Amino acid sequence: MRITVTGGTGFLGRRLVKRLLADQHAVHLLVRKVKTGFGPEVDCSVWDGLEMEPAPEALEGAEAVIHLAGEPVAQRWTPAAKERIRRSRVEGTRLLVGALERQKQRPAVLVCASAIGYYGSRGDEVLTESSEPGHGFLPEVCREWEAAADEAERLGIRVVKLRFGIVLGSEGGALAQMLPPFRWGVGGKIGSGQQWMSWIHAADAAELIAYALRCAELRGPVNACAPNPVRNEEFTETLASALRRPALFAVPERALRILYGEMAEVLLASLRVTPEAALRAGFVFRYPELGPALRNLLMAERPKAA
Ligand SMILES: NC(=O)c1ccc[n+]([C@@H]2O[C@H](COP(=O)([O-])OP(=O)(O)OC[C@H]3O[C@@H](n4cnc5c(N)ncnc54)[C@H](OP(=O)(O)O)[C@@H]3O)[C@@H](O)[C@H]2O)c1
Repeated sequence: MRITVTGGTGFLGRRLVKRLLADQHAVHLLVRKVKTGFGPEVDCSVWDGLEMEPAPEALEGAEAVIHLAGEPVAQRWTPAAKERIRRSRVEGTRLLVGALERQKQRPAVLVCASAIGYYGSRGDEVLTESSEPGHGFLPEVCREWEAAADEAERLGIRVVKLRFGIVLGSEGGALAQMLPPFRWGVGGKIGSGQQWMSWIHAADAAELIAYALRCAELRGPVNACAPNPVRNEEFTETLASALRRPALFAVPERALRILYGEMAEVLLASLRVTPEAALRAGFVFRYPELGPALRNLLMAERPKAA
Protein backbone atom coordinates (compact mmCIF):
# COMPACT_ATOMS: atom_id res chain seq x y z
CA MET A 1 0.00 0.00 0.00
CA ARG A 2 1.22 3.56 -0.63
CA ILE A 3 0.95 5.46 2.64
CA THR A 4 1.56 9.16 3.25
CA VAL A 5 2.69 10.02 6.77
CA THR A 6 3.03 13.38 8.54
CA GLY A 7 5.07 13.59 11.75
CA GLY A 8 7.02 10.54 10.55
CA THR A 9 10.25 11.97 11.96
CA GLY A 10 8.86 12.13 15.51
CA PHE A 11 9.12 9.74 18.45
CA LEU A 12 6.12 7.66 17.41
CA GLY A 13 6.48 8.35 13.67
CA ARG A 14 9.96 6.84 13.39
CA ARG A 15 8.81 3.61 14.98
CA LEU A 16 5.71 3.56 12.78
CA VAL A 17 7.65 4.11 9.54
CA LYS A 18 9.93 1.15 10.35
CA ARG A 19 6.85 -0.94 11.11
CA LEU A 20 5.21 0.02 7.78
CA LEU A 21 8.40 -0.65 5.78
CA ALA A 22 8.65 -4.09 7.39
CA ASP A 23 5.22 -4.79 5.91
CA GLN A 24 6.50 -3.75 2.44
CA HIS A 25 4.37 -0.60 2.30
CA ALA A 26 5.61 2.35 0.22
CA VAL A 27 6.00 5.26 2.64
CA HIS A 28 5.93 8.90 1.62
CA LEU A 29 6.66 11.47 4.33
CA LEU A 30 5.37 15.02 4.53
CA VAL A 31 8.06 16.85 6.51
CA ARG A 32 9.09 20.39 7.35
CA LYS A 33 12.75 19.68 6.52
CA VAL A 34 14.04 17.28 3.86
CA LYS A 35 16.65 15.78 6.20
CA THR A 36 14.62 12.96 7.74
CA GLY A 37 17.32 10.54 8.84
CA PHE A 38 15.68 7.77 6.79
CA GLY A 39 17.39 6.10 3.83
CA PRO A 40 16.32 6.13 0.16
CA GLU A 41 13.55 3.61 0.89
CA VAL A 42 11.47 6.52 2.26
CA ASP A 43 10.74 9.43 -0.06
CA CYS A 44 9.45 12.75 1.18
CA SER A 45 7.92 16.09 0.25
CA VAL A 46 8.24 19.32 2.14
CA TRP A 47 5.12 20.68 3.86
CA ASP A 48 5.23 23.31 6.59
CA GLY A 49 1.94 22.09 8.07
CA LEU A 50 0.71 25.62 8.73
CA GLU A 51 0.56 28.04 5.85
CA MET A 52 -0.56 26.08 2.83
CA GLU A 53 -1.93 22.75 1.72
CA PRO A 54 0.54 20.02 0.86
CA ALA A 55 1.35 19.91 -2.87
CA PRO A 56 -1.14 17.70 -4.77
CA GLU A 57 1.73 15.47 -6.04
CA ALA A 58 2.67 14.70 -2.44
CA LEU A 59 -0.66 12.94 -1.92
CA GLU A 60 -1.09 11.48 -5.39
CA GLY A 61 -1.70 7.76 -5.30
CA ALA A 62 -1.87 7.65 -1.48
CA GLU A 63 -4.14 4.80 -0.40
CA ALA A 64 -3.90 5.80 3.24
CA VAL A 65 -2.79 8.89 5.15
CA ILE A 66 -1.46 8.90 8.72
CA HIS A 67 -1.34 12.31 10.35
CA LEU A 68 0.83 12.59 13.45
CA ALA A 69 2.38 16.05 13.09
CA GLY A 70 2.02 18.65 15.82
CA GLU A 71 4.03 20.99 18.02
CA PRO A 72 5.19 19.19 21.20
CA VAL A 73 2.69 19.56 24.07
CA ALA A 74 5.28 18.93 26.82
CA GLN A 75 6.66 22.43 27.12
CA ARG A 76 5.79 25.48 29.21
CA TRP A 77 2.49 26.78 27.86
CA THR A 78 3.25 30.40 27.10
CA PRO A 79 0.55 32.09 25.00
CA ALA A 80 2.80 31.67 21.94
CA ALA A 81 3.41 27.96 22.68
CA LYS A 82 -0.34 27.35 23.13
CA GLU A 83 -1.00 28.95 19.79
CA ARG A 84 1.67 26.76 18.13
CA ILE A 85 0.20 23.64 19.77
CA ARG A 86 -3.32 24.51 18.61
CA ARG A 87 -2.54 25.82 15.13
CA SER A 88 -0.15 23.01 14.18
CA ARG A 89 -2.92 20.50 14.89
CA VAL A 90 -6.13 22.26 13.92
CA GLU A 91 -4.92 24.29 10.92
CA GLY A 92 -2.52 21.52 9.92
CA THR A 93 -5.37 18.99 9.79
CA ARG A 94 -7.67 21.41 7.93
CA LEU A 95 -5.00 22.02 5.29
CA LEU A 96 -4.34 18.32 4.91
CA VAL A 97 -8.04 17.51 4.50
CA GLY A 98 -8.35 20.43 2.05
CA ALA A 99 -5.62 18.88 -0.07
CA LEU A 100 -7.36 15.47 0.09
CA GLU A 101 -10.54 17.09 -1.19
CA ARG A 102 -8.65 18.22 -4.28
CA GLN A 103 -7.39 14.71 -5.09
CA LYS A 104 -9.17 12.89 -7.91
CA GLN A 105 -8.37 9.54 -6.34
CA ARG A 106 -8.75 9.88 -2.57
CA PRO A 107 -7.25 7.56 0.04
CA ALA A 108 -9.57 5.05 1.68
CA VAL A 109 -8.53 5.95 5.21
CA LEU A 110 -7.14 8.82 7.28
CA VAL A 111 -5.65 7.85 10.63
CA CYS A 112 -5.24 11.01 12.67
CA ALA A 113 -3.54 11.33 16.05
CA SER A 114 -5.46 12.78 18.96
CA ALA A 115 -4.87 12.42 22.69
CA ILE A 116 -6.64 11.24 25.83
CA GLY A 117 -6.20 14.87 26.87
CA TYR A 118 -9.59 15.08 25.11
CA TYR A 119 -11.22 13.91 28.36
CA GLY A 120 -9.58 16.47 30.70
CA SER A 121 -8.96 15.14 34.24
CA ARG A 122 -11.67 12.79 35.53
CA GLY A 123 -10.66 11.21 38.84
CA ASP A 124 -11.71 7.54 39.05
CA GLU A 125 -14.26 7.65 36.22
CA VAL A 126 -13.74 4.90 33.63
CA LEU A 127 -13.52 6.65 30.27
CA THR A 128 -14.54 5.11 26.96
CA GLU A 129 -14.71 6.64 23.49
CA SER A 130 -18.28 7.76 24.20
CA SER A 131 -17.36 9.71 27.35
CA GLU A 132 -17.92 13.46 27.21
CA PRO A 133 -14.93 15.70 26.49
CA GLY A 134 -13.35 17.65 29.35
CA HIS A 135 -12.83 21.38 29.75
CA GLY A 136 -9.73 23.51 29.30
CA PHE A 137 -7.02 24.10 26.75
CA LEU A 138 -6.07 20.53 25.81
CA PRO A 139 -9.62 19.13 25.59
CA GLU A 140 -10.53 22.08 23.37
CA VAL A 141 -7.52 21.54 21.10
CA CYS A 142 -8.34 17.82 20.82
CA ARG A 143 -11.98 18.56 20.01
CA GLU A 144 -11.06 21.01 17.24
CA TRP A 145 -8.32 18.71 15.94
CA GLU A 146 -10.73 15.76 15.73
CA ALA A 147 -13.45 17.91 14.16
CA ALA A 148 -10.99 19.00 11.45
CA ALA A 149 -10.16 15.33 10.74
CA ASP A 150 -13.89 14.42 10.67
CA GLU A 151 -14.29 16.65 7.62
CA ALA A 152 -12.57 13.91 5.61
CA GLU A 153 -15.57 11.60 6.29
CA ARG A 154 -17.59 13.97 4.13
CA LEU A 155 -15.20 13.10 1.28
CA GLY A 156 -15.89 9.39 1.64
CA ILE A 157 -12.69 8.72 3.59
CA ARG A 158 -12.84 6.48 6.67
CA VAL A 159 -11.46 8.53 9.56
CA VAL A 160 -9.89 6.94 12.63
CA LYS A 161 -8.92 9.30 15.47
CA LEU A 162 -6.47 7.62 17.79
CA ARG A 163 -6.63 9.15 21.26
CA PHE A 164 -3.17 8.22 22.46
CA GLY A 165 -2.40 7.76 26.12
CA ILE A 166 1.17 8.19 27.39
CA VAL A 167 3.24 6.42 24.75
CA LEU A 168 6.06 4.51 26.45
CA GLY A 169 9.20 4.01 24.40
CA SER A 170 12.89 3.96 25.15
CA GLU A 171 13.74 6.41 22.35
CA GLY A 172 11.77 9.40 23.60
CA GLY A 173 8.45 10.60 24.99
CA ALA A 174 7.53 10.61 28.67
CA LEU A 175 9.57 7.56 29.72
CA ALA A 176 12.84 9.02 28.45
CA GLN A 177 12.15 12.08 30.64
CA MET A 178 11.35 9.96 33.68
CA LEU A 179 14.29 7.57 33.46
CA PRO A 180 17.21 9.77 34.61
CA PRO A 181 15.79 10.70 38.06
CA PHE A 182 14.61 7.11 38.61
CA ARG A 183 18.06 5.79 37.66
CA TRP A 184 19.68 8.17 40.15
CA GLY A 185 17.30 6.89 42.81
CA VAL A 186 15.52 10.25 43.20
CA GLY A 187 12.39 9.32 41.25
CA GLY A 188 9.03 9.28 42.96
CA LYS A 189 5.31 9.68 42.70
CA ILE A 190 3.75 12.90 41.51
CA GLY A 191 1.57 14.74 43.99
CA SER A 192 -0.73 12.31 45.83
CA GLY A 193 0.11 9.50 43.40
CA GLN A 194 -3.60 8.65 43.24
CA GLN A 195 -4.13 9.96 39.70
CA TRP A 196 -4.69 7.37 36.97
CA MET A 197 -2.19 7.03 34.14
CA SER A 198 -3.31 5.54 30.84
CA TRP A 199 -0.28 4.37 28.91
CA ILE A 200 0.59 2.31 25.82
CA HIS A 201 3.82 0.60 24.77
CA ALA A 202 5.18 2.31 21.64
CA ALA A 203 5.19 -1.05 19.80
CA ASP A 204 1.45 -1.43 20.49
CA ALA A 205 0.87 2.19 19.46
CA ALA A 206 2.54 1.60 16.07
CA GLU A 207 0.74 -1.74 15.71
CA LEU A 208 -2.63 -0.13 16.45
CA ILE A 209 -2.02 2.48 13.73
CA ALA A 210 -1.21 -0.31 11.26
CA TYR A 211 -4.34 -2.19 12.45
CA ALA A 212 -6.49 0.91 11.92
CA LEU A 213 -5.34 1.04 8.29
CA ARG A 214 -6.64 -2.42 7.50
CA CYS A 215 -9.57 -2.86 9.89
CA ALA A 216 -12.59 -1.33 8.14
CA GLU A 217 -14.59 -1.77 11.35
CA LEU A 218 -12.51 0.88 13.12
CA ARG A 219 -13.90 4.34 12.53
CA GLY A 220 -14.20 7.48 14.66
CA PRO A 221 -12.51 7.87 18.04
CA VAL A 222 -10.35 4.99 19.28
CA ASN A 223 -8.61 5.09 22.64
CA ALA A 224 -4.99 4.10 22.10
CA CYS A 225 -4.13 2.94 25.62
CA ALA A 226 -3.38 -0.44 27.14
CA PRO A 227 -6.38 -2.07 28.85
CA ASN A 228 -4.78 -1.74 32.31
CA PRO A 229 -4.25 1.86 33.38
CA VAL A 230 -2.54 2.31 36.76
CA ARG A 231 -2.42 4.94 39.46
CA ASN A 232 0.70 7.11 39.42
CA GLU A 233 1.81 5.45 42.67
CA GLU A 234 1.73 2.02 41.03
CA PHE A 235 3.47 3.34 37.92
CA THR A 236 6.23 4.76 40.14
CA GLU A 237 6.68 1.51 42.08
CA THR A 238 6.66 -0.61 38.90
CA LEU A 239 9.26 1.58 37.19
CA ALA A 240 11.48 1.71 40.27
CA SER A 241 11.28 -2.04 40.71
CA ALA A 242 12.06 -2.66 37.00
CA LEU A 243 15.16 -0.49 37.48
CA ARG A 244 15.91 -2.02 40.92
CA ARG A 245 16.07 1.46 42.41
CA PRO A 246 14.20 2.97 45.35
CA ALA A 247 11.44 5.52 44.74
CA LEU A 248 11.20 7.24 48.07
CA PHE A 249 10.59 10.77 46.87
CA ALA A 250 7.41 12.58 45.92
CA VAL A 251 7.25 15.52 43.55
CA PRO A 252 4.95 18.11 45.17
CA GLU A 253 2.16 19.41 42.95
CA ARG A 254 3.20 22.97 43.80
CA ALA A 255 6.71 22.40 42.47
CA LEU A 256 5.31 21.10 39.19
CA ARG A 257 3.03 24.10 38.86
CA ILE A 258 5.96 26.47 39.45
CA LEU A 259 8.15 24.58 36.98
CA TYR A 260 5.65 24.00 34.20
CA GLY A 261 2.87 26.52 34.78
CA GLU A 262 -0.45 25.49 33.25
CA MET A 263 1.14 22.48 31.50
CA ALA A 264 1.49 20.85 34.95
CA GLU A 265 -2.24 20.00 34.63
CA VAL A 266 -1.26 17.40 32.01
CA LEU A 267 1.19 15.75 34.41
CA LEU A 268 -1.32 15.81 37.27
CA ALA A 269 -4.39 14.77 35.27
CA SER A 270 -6.20 11.59 36.31
CA LEU A 271 -7.28 9.61 33.26
CA ARG A 272 -8.58 6.07 33.61
CA VAL A 273 -9.13 5.27 29.96
CA THR A 274 -10.20 1.95 28.52
CA PRO A 275 -9.57 0.96 24.87
CA GLU A 276 -13.12 -0.22 24.25
CA ALA A 277 -13.22 0.35 20.47
CA ALA A 278 -9.84 -1.30 19.78
CA LEU A 279 -10.72 -4.39 21.85
CA ARG A 280 -14.16 -4.63 20.24
CA ALA A 281 -12.49 -4.54 16.82
CA GLY A 282 -10.28 -7.48 17.82
CA PHE A 283 -6.99 -5.66 18.43
CA VAL A 284 -4.69 -7.72 20.65
CA PHE A 285 -2.29 -5.76 22.85
CA ARG A 286 1.18 -7.30 23.03
CA TYR A 287 1.79 -5.41 26.30
CA PRO A 288 -1.48 -5.17 28.23
CA GLU A 289 0.30 -4.96 31.63
CA LEU A 290 2.70 -2.24 32.74
CA GLY A 291 5.38 -4.44 34.36
CA PRO A 292 6.24 -6.50 31.25
CA ALA A 293 5.96 -3.36 29.07
CA LEU A 294 8.52 -1.48 31.16
CA ARG A 295 10.83 -4.46 31.49
CA ASN A 296 10.78 -4.90 27.70
CA LEU A 297 11.58 -1.22 27.14
CA LEU A 298 14.38 -1.18 29.69
CA MET A 299 15.89 -4.29 28.13
CA ALA A 300 15.89 -2.51 24.76
CA GLU A 301 17.78 0.34 26.48
CA ARG A 302 20.53 -1.77 27.97
CA PRO A 303 22.92 -2.25 24.99
CA LYS A 304 22.94 1.54 24.45
CA ALA A 305 23.82 2.21 28.08
CA ALA A 306 26.69 -0.32 28.06
N1 LIG B 1 4.00 10.61 22.53
C1 LIG B 1 2.92 10.60 23.30
O1 LIG B 1 2.94 10.13 24.47
C2 LIG B 1 1.61 11.13 22.76
C3 LIG B 1 0.48 11.10 23.60
C4 LIG B 1 -0.72 11.61 23.13
C5 LIG B 1 -0.80 12.12 21.84
N2 LIG B 1 0.32 12.13 21.05
C6 LIG B 1 0.21 12.73 19.71
O2 LIG B 1 0.69 11.84 18.71
C7 LIG B 1 1.41 12.58 17.71
C8 LIG B 1 2.79 12.00 17.56
O3 LIG B 1 3.45 12.08 18.83
P1 LIG B 1 5.03 12.08 18.98
O4 LIG B 1 5.34 11.88 20.40
O5 LIG B 1 5.64 11.18 17.95
O6 LIG B 1 5.36 13.61 18.59
P2 LIG B 1 6.78 14.28 18.26
O7 LIG B 1 7.91 13.37 18.55
O8 LIG B 1 6.79 15.61 18.95
O9 LIG B 1 6.73 14.44 16.68
C9 LIG B 1 5.76 15.15 16.03
C10 LIG B 1 6.22 15.56 14.63
O10 LIG B 1 5.40 16.66 14.27
C11 LIG B 1 6.14 17.59 13.50
N3 LIG B 1 6.06 18.91 14.16
C12 LIG B 1 6.65 19.31 15.32
N4 LIG B 1 6.34 20.58 15.61
C13 LIG B 1 5.53 21.01 14.61
C14 LIG B 1 4.89 22.24 14.33
N5 LIG B 1 5.04 23.29 15.12
N6 LIG B 1 4.13 22.30 13.21
C15 LIG B 1 3.98 21.24 12.38
N7 LIG B 1 4.59 20.05 12.59
C16 LIG B 1 5.33 19.94 13.69
C17 LIG B 1 7.59 17.10 13.43
O11 LIG B 1 7.78 16.49 12.16
P3 LIG B 1 8.62 17.22 10.97
O12 LIG B 1 9.69 18.04 11.64
O13 LIG B 1 9.14 16.07 10.18
O14 LIG B 1 7.67 18.02 10.20
C18 LIG B 1 7.65 16.05 14.53
O15 LIG B 1 8.54 15.02 14.20
C19 LIG B 1 1.42 14.05 18.15
O16 LIG B 1 0.42 14.76 17.44
C20 LIG B 1 1.09 13.98 19.62
O17 LIG B 1 0.37 15.10 20.10
C21 LIG B 1 1.52 11.64 21.48
